[in-house]
Amino acid sequence: MAHKGFTLWFTGLSGAGKTTLADLVADKLAQSGVPREVLDGDVVRTNLSKGLGFSKEDRDTNIRRIGFVAKLLSRNGIPVITAAISPYREVRDEVRKNIGKGFIEVYVKAKLDTLVKRDVKGLYEKAIKGEIKAFTGVSDPYEEPLNAEIVIDTDAEGELQSADKIWNYLVEKGFVVAEPALARA
Ligand code: ADX
Repeated sequence: MAHKGFTLWFTGLSGAGKTTLADLVADKLAQSGVPREVLDGDVVRTNLSKGLGFSKEDRDTNIRRIGFVAKLLSRNGIPVITAAISPYREVRDEVRKNIGKGFIEVYVKAKLDTLVKRDVKGLYEKAIKGEIKAFTGVSDPYEEPLNAEIVIDTDAEGELQSADKIWNYLVEKGFVVAEPALARA
């Protein structure tokens, strides 16, 4: 497939499914022969953002760093998928402005109740007990996107359905384009 550079910017609470969806879309790009890079919050925090904590200032720094790398890659034609909570609207909008028209915000929406019940990493239980301070959605803010290009309702959709929805958006907007004529040539 032919492709343009773009940044799929996932945002949403911990455990909502950002990484799962990022990986599914990245796999689909890989199968279609499209280069791509995933910048996952948990991974970025072990290298590029090592040492940063979860104050507003540190989270904003983390997001600006991810946004900076996403901009460098996507302006050179490499699709980028980011998966960090990115809880603050202002810094998300700053990244949106810096990256420009290839920026696609994907809000991975999930009810807090569902996440607390699921508690994949066991972090919500600790956050509720106060063992983890400033935990997003429990004791720290999450500012929902107001104009996300794509909204994923994880309480209503399965993950494959959500991944398809994102893929269809990329096709409809011409970020990825099938090349049947070229493939046959
Ligand atoms: S962000 O706010 O800067 O975008 P990021 O996505 O990189 O966050 O990291 C979130 C991950 O860090 C969570 O999925 C969780 O595993 C872990 N984590 C540890 N402490 C916290 C906290 N106080 N709030 C949110 N996530 C935390």
